[in-house]
Amino acid sequence: MSSPPVNVSTLREMKNSDQPIVCITAYDASFAQLVDMCGVDLVLVGDSVGMVVQGYDTTVPVTVDDICYHTKLVSRGLSRSYLVSDLPFMSYSSADQALENSVRLMQEGGAMMVKLEGGSGQYGIVEHLSNHDIPVCAHIGLKPQSVHKIGGFKVQGRDQSQANRMIDDAKALESAGADIILLECIPSELGKVITESVSVPVIGIGAGPHVDGQILVIYDLLGITQGPTPRFVKDYMAEKETHNIIEALALYVEEVRSGKYPAKEHCFS
Ligand code: KIV
Repeated sequence: MSSPPVNVSTLREMKNSDQPIVCITAYDASFAQLVDMCGVDLVLVGDSVGMVVQGYDTTVPVTVDDICYHTKLVSRGLSRSYLVSDLPFMSYSSADQALENSVRLMQEGGAMMVKLEGGSGQYGIVEHLSNHDIPVCAHIGLKPQSVHKIGGFKVQGRDQSQANRMIDDAKALESAGADIILLECIPSELGKVITESVSVPVIGIGAGPHVDGQILVIYDLLGITQGPTPRFVKDYMAEKETHNIIEALALYVEEVRSGKYPAKEHCFS
């Protein structure tokens, strides 16, 4: 018997019962179908599409039209997984613009939740979306859309004042109505503190093993991405002598569920 579609309540129940949430990015219907089949709980149409599919160096050039298009493709491939789509750079610079673009991703694309790179500047935006019943995932820690402001893709929250600010941000974003907090590239200990400080699910990418779920970019975990990859990436194709995509995806799902991924070598201190 196939399990029922995942929704926000399922994700909350998984947090409350310590069942790791398995997440992955996808950008088209074929991969969406495969990850759904392998039991992935949440699929993100990330603006990482700009780097792994479109060939840009950053996520900055990605547009709402791009995400809308890829969301449509992915939604056609899913039957059980929960679908989240990124609001790209500068597509949520005012509350009204954020609402208009979120409605597009949900109505045209089929997204069930939108993700934005948040912090103190975005509390009002998250509140506005939440007041209009738009589910929101707030992404903090390393925010790739801010790469030109930060000066590179770097681990965040290593100094105590930055870590405290991140903990306060996570709590404030939850109070503003965020349904999921996503943490990227932070020390494992900070990932643990934030996860224990909020009641909504916390998904990590390079945020250590103590969060409620893990996400990876599908091209990274299938070994398609060439050149250096971040420390948290595990190439699951390299793990399997058969080089079979379904086995690699299934192994990722199994390792997140069992807590084998992330191991120490994928984490930051
Ligand atoms: O765009 C993306 O794929 C993301 C993940 C790295 C979490 O934001």
